[in-house]
Amino acid sequence: WFSGVQMGPPDAILGITEAFKKDKNEKKINLGAGTYRDDNGNPFVLPSVRKAEEKIMAKKMNKEYAPISGIPEFTDLAIKIALGDDSPNLQKKSNATVQAISGTGSLRIGAAFLSKFWPGGKDIYMPSPTWGNHVPVFVHSGMTPKTYRYYDPKTCGFDFNGCMEDIRKIPAKSVILLHACAHNPTGVDPKPEQWREMCEVIKEKQLYPFFDMAYQGFASGNCEKDAFAVRLFEKEGHQFCLAQSFAKNMGLYGERAGAFSVICQDKEEAERVMSQVKILIRPMYSNPPIHGARIVTEILSDPELKKQWLVDVKQMADRIISIRKTLKDTLVKLGSQRSWDHITDQIGMFCYTGMTPENVARLTKEYSIYLTKDGRISMAGVTTKNVEHLACGMHAVTK
Ligand code: LMR
Repeated sequence: WFSGVQMGPPDAILGITEAFKKDKNEKKINLGAGTYRDDNGNPFVLPSVRKAEEKIMAKKMNKEYAPISGIPEFTDLAIKIALGDDSPNLQKKSNATVQAISGTGSLRIGAAFLSKFWPGGKDIYMPSPTWGNHVPVFVHSGMTPKTYRYYDPKTCGFDFNGCMEDIRKIPAKSVILLHACAHNPTGVDPKPEQWREMCEVIKEKQLYPFFDMAYQGFASGNCEKDAFAVRLFEKEGHQFCLAQSFAKNMGLYGERAGAFSVICQDKEEAERVMSQVKILIRPMYSNPPIHGARIVTEILSDPELKKQWLVDVKQMADRIISIRKTLKDTLVKLGSQRSWDHITDQIGMFCYTGMTPENVARLTKEYSIYLTKDGRISMAGVTTKNVEHLACGMHAVTK
């Protein structure tokens, strides 16, 4: 029956790990998927997560289904950490928030909802470049991805003027996708004053923002600071969608804990939206998994554990910030004539190095260093032990 099915290509990001696993070189480094490693290169379970799990185990909870929209305590706490304790929308209960299968699942529900109900058409404008999975997530839901300028290859930084020029040209009532912080893949974020200008034009043009916030806490080490853009848009009266993930900031990758919200004009609208989001979820996966959401709930509802978690997130963010500097310094020490300032200017989990696909192919072949073709490296996989090997490779292939 399936003789006509063609072999598909490996995933541009997750496929890298498959290739890495097969490599026998003991110096090999995996800088493909954005998953945090400690300085010994090992996966890291946050101490706050371990403690939360112990508390959950001690409670001997049952394994009943969660409601279609997820665990209510989890969704309340998730949206609160995004919008803040004094959010006007939370006070008037104008948010429709559901638990989702981490960030991707949140985006997928959002895409399905907008595809069915957004009155302004199917176009969604994404930054160029954007996370590789954004395009298929929205295409699968019947939306049409378009782009706006974002990254400037000349400076390896933000193309603010190009971005503003393009946003001004987007037809009114289109959806615009925004990375709330720690832009993936570039590590380039707008500055607060640039966000303010973007916020104003987006309002003027009646565009509908869809925030993807997969890295709250990971950019600066501070969850409040990383929520700046989302909270600014709220304060300025925007209504918007928000996808949240706890994969990175709580290290809950495989637990798939996330949340999707529609910030509505009032409680009554939020209730109607919620009813439809549930109708979309039920035939997709019925209801979400409970363990990850319980961990998040435990952490965010216990002031001591929450304090510990904030220390844990900062520890991860600080290690990345410091290893960026080590990488740059090592490249300089090795005599590289290129400017590598963007390694420390960019933030979050990734560095968009500016290396070409040819550079990347050589790095992988000659140095067993694995990364995506676009030259993105997951800084979270760089350690004091492998940074020298990485810098040697980068210098050699970019000479
Ligand atoms: C990444 O961009 O590497 C991560 O978000 C992992 C993924 O699912 O692609």
